[in-house]
Amino acid sequence: MSTLRKNWDRLRGAWHRDQLPVLTPEEGYNRWAASYGENMNPVQVLEAEALDRLLPDLSGQKVLDLGCGKGRVSRLALDRGAAATTGVDVSEAMLKAAAAAVPSASARWLKAGARRLPFRDASFGVVVCALMMGHVKDLDVALSEVARVLRPGGVLMLSDFHPYAALRGWQRAFTDAASGRAFAIENHPHLFEDYIRCFNALDIVLEALEEPSHEGFPVVFVLRARKER
Ligand SMILES: C[S@@+](CC[C@H](N)C(=O)[O-])C[C@H]1O[C@@H](n2cnc3c(N)ncnc32)[C@H](O)[C@@H]1O
Repeated sequence: MSTLRKNWDRLRGAWHRDQLPVLTPEEGYNRWAASYGENMNPVQVLEAEALDRLLPDLSGQKVLDLGCGKGRVSRLALDRGAAATTGVDVSEAMLKAAAAAVPSASARWLKAGARRLPFRDASFGVVVCALMMGHVKDLDVALSEVARVLRPGGVLMLSDFHPYAALRGWQRAFTDAASGRAFAIENHPHLFEDYIRCFNALDIVLEALEEPSHEGFPVVFVLRARKER
């Protein structure tokens, strides 16, 4: 059996466990940080491939990596020629790991939540929000903050677990390395109609959308959108 196949089976098993205690994103990712990203997660593989296909030219751009985790997107952006990256996350443990994993003078890291970003209007040419928005209940509040900090003409890249997967009972779950206990992390699946409604209200135009599938149903999505003015 291939490693990818085994990882799919493990993931399916993990995401279908019922009645797990549910943690806030801050507590969940502080606990998960020690082991997060150790195994190749098949959803992340599909997401990374689609993100790679849809990313705009990042040369010279100031990039906000919103919900940066261990800094995967910041590293990618710097590799693609971004001038500077700012990683924002609610989890201190993830931010600490990101700073260690991406030791670049052009990368900075800040503890903040998506509902209120500590930046001036039009601070960034590109905002990337990877695999995070499902943790935010108020999509409209978070997206209006994204629109505020994006400069006119700037690009939003957003990926997440597909709402179909969440509605089929998949959870964001992990096993805490310290206690051996399994936990889920608070998740609020947003439908595409929710995204489109918010984009329309914020003058953000959807440019491209990919919904990579596994075994016939979409498990993740990646979109590229542009702030008009
Ligand atoms: C699944 S991880 C993804 C990390 C990274 N974007 C990546 O793709 O590798 C989700 C991250 O979002 C962060 N997060 C969750 N809710 C957040 C919020 N409201 N504001 C900022 N970060 C948040 C978590 O702490 C976690 O590090």
